[in-house]
Amino acid sequence: MKIATHELRCTECGTRIAGTAVNSIFRCTICNGLYDVIYPWSAIPNGDTPATDSRLPNASALRWLWQERRTSTMSVDQSGVWRFRDLLPIVDDLDHVVTLREGNTPLYDLPRASKALGVDWILAKHQGMNPTGSFKDTGMTAALSVARERGFEWVACASTGNTSAAMAAYAARAGMRSIVFIPEGKIAWGKLSQSMDYGALTIQLKTDFDGCVNVLTDLVNRFPIMLLNSVNPYRLEGQKTPAFELVEQLEWQVPEHVIVPGGNLANGSALAKGFSEMHHLGLIPRIPKVSIIQAEGANPLYRSLQENGGEELIPVKANTRATAIRIGNPASWRKALRALRTTGGWCEQVSEQEIALAKAEIGSEGIGCEPASAVTLAGLKKLVAQGKIGREERVVLILTGHTLKDSTYTIDYHRGELFTDEESTQISGSDQILHAALRKPPIVLDADTDTVFRALESQMKLVHA
Ligand code: F0G
Repeated sequence: MKIATHELRCTECGTRIAGTAVNSIFRCTICNGLYDVIYPWSAIPNGDTPATDSRLPNASALRWLWQERRTSTMSVDQSGVWRFRDLLPIVDDLDHVVTLREGNTPLYDLPRASKALGVDWILAKHQGMNPTGSFKDTGMTAALSVARERGFEWVACASTGNTSAAMAAYAARAGMRSIVFIPEGKIAWGKLSQSMDYGALTIQLKTDFDGCVNVLTDLVNRFPIMLLNSVNPYRLEGQKTPAFELVEQLEWQVPEHVIVPGGNLANGSALAKGFSEMHHLGLIPRIPKVSIIQAEGANPLYRSLQENGGEELIPVKANTRATAIRIGNPASWRKALRALRTTGGWCEQVSEQEIALAKAEIGSEGIGCEPASAVTLAGLKKLVAQGKIGREERVVLILTGHTLKDSTYTIDYHRGELFTDEESTQISGSDQILHAALRKPPIVLDADTDTVFRALESQMKLVHA
């Protein structure tokens, strides 16, 4: 039975096409805009026919069904993405689904950060707990399943490391081949090792992420290879499902704020789509404000909003140690802008020093994350200081990647080797104290019990002081 009922709709000019009619770069042939996946029940912006009530899935039935599937032994039910498949009918045959049981990620509280910031309720949805250690798995299961159903043998992406790790793993599961373009020397080793481990053809290009995208675009235009970057709208159908999972975990209560890191700028809009769809279907009474945080050195959206109100993107030459979001010319910036406007969220930027502090704080809660994910806590501090987020409001940070993705960064931080002297002098006095308390460099000692005891004693006195 054919169950795929979707179309693609250009987010710029509104043109609709059948999913199978899309070109290899996932761009509208009329205006070059990006597509959204839409369904007969979707709320379509002005000008299009809205769905009639009879076509809307029933909210209570969905809640019940999604809960029931949790006890199933079927792989599609055990997946935290495909468990919600009623709202992402993008494949005709569920046998084509490629899953590693992604999703089902924990929602943690951050008691120390809450106390320090004076915000009652800070939670972290840890997407780094996915099978390949990042939120990309939720999108990759969706897009790779579509690629498999459409008979592709090859898939490809340009990546700062996480997309490529996820793509390589899912392609391997599907028995398909994958090509990865990564900027040479600018991704974390853990991520590079993953794409090799999962058998991708890994190509390091002597350029940055944006340069990798250019080569990839030429490649998919010439060969039958499915492009799996986040311009592929099927990715975002998977990446919207953590929004469903999140409110389900909160017993259908809606937080006031959701904060995401911004790189190529697709994920914020994917989550906003998930929240908007739930709202439209009556699953939730309102949508949270979705805010996007960029690193100061890779801040094209922030800059564009400051300088021209988001009229035009001002690309930047990106540079940040949070290599996952080292992107200067993000493809999905207009979608991100729409997410900010429809949800009422903000875009902020944070410095390298602020990212490092926030990362150490998240680590000290026993959770940990990669540097790019820590921009969420650093950004939250700014939004609280600006009075945009109040004490009694509920905040969810989306931690996008696992701490083991970039252990070099963590080790450099704790050894005090992350920053140049000049950068260190830019850290405020109060933050210096926090850094000093959080840094836990390894201690090298002779293997002699007395020496070890003496060292422990001095450490433990410090703790008790
Ligand atoms: N956090 C992490 C850990 C990421 O890997 C990325 C993007 C983002 C946040 C930003 O998400 O691009 O949707 O705004 N990584 C991509 C990659 C670009 O190739 O792995 P976005």
